[in-house]
Amino acid sequence: MSEQSTKTLLILGGTGLVGSMLIEQALADPQVLRVIAPTRRPLKISDRLLNPLVDFDELPRNATWWRVDAVLCALGTTRSQAGSREKFYRVDHDYVLQAATLAQQAGTPVFVLNSSMGAEPLSRSLYLRTKGQIEKDLETLGFSSLTHVRPSLLAGGVRPEFRLGESIGLWLARLLQPVIPARYQAVQASDVAAVMLAAAVEPRPGTSIVQSDQIKCHHSAKDT
Ligand SMILES: NC(=O)c1ccc[n+]([C@@H]2O[C@H](COP(=O)([O-])OP(=O)(O)OC[C@H]3O[C@@H](n4cnc5c(N)ncnc54)[C@H](OP(=O)(O)O)[C@@H]3O)[C@@H](O)[C@H]2O)c1
Repeated sequence: MSEQSTKTLLILGGTGLVGSMLIEQALADPQVLRVIAPTRRPLKISDRLLNPLVDFDELPRNATWWRVDAVLCALGTTRSQAGSREKFYRVDHDYVLQAATLAQQAGTPVFVLNSSMGAEPLSRSLYLRTKGQIEKDLETLGFSSLTHVRPSLLAGGVRPEFRLGESIGLWLARLLQPVIPARYQAVQASDVAAVMLAAAVEPRPGTSIVQSDQIKCHHSAKDT
């Protein structure tokens, strides 16, 4: 392990598409010492990875692992997976806010959210409204660095379940790629993870928003 390995990161949503890439990239990053990934299903055991199994309805308030250098959140569900609007909101808003509050109260200074393009607290779409509201509520908690990463459609992963809307969206995105403006084009989940990791490891003070068409640029700029 490098002498520069100093960061401990807490990753939420570690069994998901972006979350699993986050864990993989974080464990490969020489600046990262340790990753804590609370999940409801066990992750593959890995060196330097702590995987507490938790019930997100009853998060352990006194766990010492809430105090880390940064939290990265890729938690989320869909309305159809969750089963109702209320259950969707509970995952994409309430679980995120509860975890963020516990981390902030424990002294964690940095939070990075996988939000969505079009996040808007007054949107008529439940999905975009929920993303907008969680962004806004996180801003009241007082993190010294808060980043909202707002990807368009996610590409580049295999899901255990079939998502019709997402599959149609990705098919259309590929078909229309030459004519779709950059800001609406699908982004690779691995690029979203890379941007989130950069925001956690080299945090900027205040609140930052990374729009979808900036995701690849941020990632590439870091690679060069
Ligand atoms: N898909 C897109 O095109 C798209 C576009 C823009 C933004 N986003 C946002 O990006 C984020 C990451 O997306 P993704 O596709 O990587 O998500 P994903 O693969 O569906 O993974 C979601 C994660 O949240 C966890 N989760 C869901 N319901 C839960 C519950 N009731 N209790 C505990 N954990 C729960 C899942 O755990 P389990 O494995 O245990 O279910 C998983 O770890 C989400 O917030 C999503 O809204 C997605």
